[in-house]
Amino acid sequence: MDDTAPLHLTLPDAEATARLAERLAGGLRAGDTLLLSGPIGAGKSHFARALIRALTTPEQEVPSPTFTLVQDYATARGPLWHMDLYRLGAVDELVELGVEDALGTAVCLIEWPERLGEMTPADHVALALEPAADSEARVAHLSGYGAGWTRLRPLAEGECHDA
Ligand SMILES: Nc1ncnc2c1ncn2[C@@H]1O[C@H](COP(=O)(O)OP(=O)(O)OP(=O)(O)O)[C@@H](O)[C@H]1O
Ligand SMILES: [Mg+2]
Repeated sequence: MDDTAPLHLTLPDAEATARLAERLAGGLRAGDTLLLSGPIGAGKSHFARALIRALTTPEQEVPSPTFTLVQDYATARGPLWHMDLYRLGAVDELVELGVEDALGTAVCLIEWPERLGEMTPADHVALALEPAADSEARVAHLSGYGAGWTRLRPLAEGECHDA
């Protein structure tokens, strides 16, 4: 059994997406990077909101960082940066925003992580949300590399059934 192999999970509804986020939140540590990909409306922000609330309070406001690109929080695991890079212009902006320094030190949740380019940390957990072909469900594809993935993978595995 390969304990670093990708996982494929069916998330039947939005609550299942939130539960997966809460389980992963339980194992997160400062410096972990979580790359959240998937098409518009896939549930990336929904996942991020549940994860941030799990590490702060259930009432925590979690505005979309679509226009600010970055929103940071003080959490139980230290600083957390929620980023949405959809509107990122040039990669230089990442340096100006302090993203380079946050990667590897803060917990980083990154929507549209493709925009990171060469700044993508080798050690990361990648969650790709894919709308199911024949229902409102999502399929979560989880993969990763490094200590964070080794730590978080078993938490995701416990969540639901293989897709
Ligand atoms: N597993 C699921 N099954 C059905 N609906 C879901 C699931 N997970 C999330 N959703 C719903 O998907 C909707 C869109 O989610 P969200 O806004 O988080 O998308 P997004 O990926 O962040 O999109 P964008 O790229 O525009 O930022 C939300 O209303 C949420 O409730
Ligand atoms: Mg979003």
